[in-house]
Amino acid sequence: MEEFAAPAPVRVERRPVSEQESRRANGPDWDRYADEYQATHGRFLGDVGFVWGPEGLTEAEAGVLGDLAGRDVLEVGSGAGQCSRWVTAQGGRAVGLDLSMRQLQHSRRIDDATGVHVPSVLGTATALPFRDDSFDVVFSSFGALQFVADLDVAVAETARVLRPDGRYAFSITHPTRWMFPDDPGEPGLTASQSYWDRTPYVEVADASDVVSYVEHHRTLEDWVDVLSRHDFALQRLLEPRWPDDHERVWGGWSALRGRLTPGTAIFAAAYRPRP
Ligand SMILES: C[S@@+](CC[C@H](N)C(=O)[O-])C[C@H]1O[C@@H](n2cnc3c(N)ncnc32)[C@H](O)[C@@H]1O
Repeated sequence: MEEFAAPAPVRVERRPVSEQESRRANGPDWDRYADEYQATHGRFLGDVGFVWGPEGLTEAEAGVLGDLAGRDVLEVGSGAGQCSRWVTAQGGRAVGLDLSMRQLQHSRRIDDATGVHVPSVLGTATALPFRDDSFDVVFSSFGALQFVADLDVAVAETARVLRPDGRYAFSITHPTRWMFPDDPGEPGLTASQSYWDRTPYVEVADASDVVSYVEHHRTLEDWVDVLSRHDFALQRLLEPRWPDDHERVWGGWSALRGRLTPGTAIFAAAYRPRP
């Protein structure tokens, strides 16, 4: 069995963090975590597989992206490219973008192993290195959006690179989970903080006092508002049910919690720019 270094001690805080600070923390954090992440979750994700979250709902079941054959598709926060490889297998022209070089190295490794290649670039959701009107579909499966401070900029960037009538879909931790400790057991069932408190979750490396990980929270209202501000027409909001026979624990996701509360939200929207 593969062994991973014990995580360095961190202090958890809630405090405002800038976009630059979020990026400086989360890139290296995903670089450090990537090997363990892929070893732990790679099989569940599938090398050429598209799941929207820990419940295991697949895009083949959800069908939120529509027909992908011949479409230009961008995955933001693509990690090791599993979803984009599935898109490629459906005939789409997928491109991945991720903040972590180590995640992209895993993507290349799996490309070589499967023979399904996804061109991928290092970058951030808030400054997409693509021309205007480049894509028919942009999506993220738990990628990037809850890690950026400037959500408005990330959504504006998505609108910029999408063609009119293009599709935008993304999954995130269900906003209601913010109220609960991120614990798969009983403690994760008792609300302990306000749903409306958007102060980011921050981990600080104890030894250096440097911010080492950041997560941002938005309410359901915030998500609907940001989409509408950037000319996206919301078409579906999915809250995948926890399957009866699914016992897998992934971070704070578990059967115990999943049978009682939603863990994932998937938004699907169409880009309808106002003239
Ligand atoms: C939970 S993983 C999801 C990746 C993939 N969909 C999966 O299921 O494995 C989140 C990914 O978002 C990336 N990420 C975090 N912040 C980002 C940003 N600002 N821009 C682009 N990617 C980012 C991380 O490097 C990581 O690979």
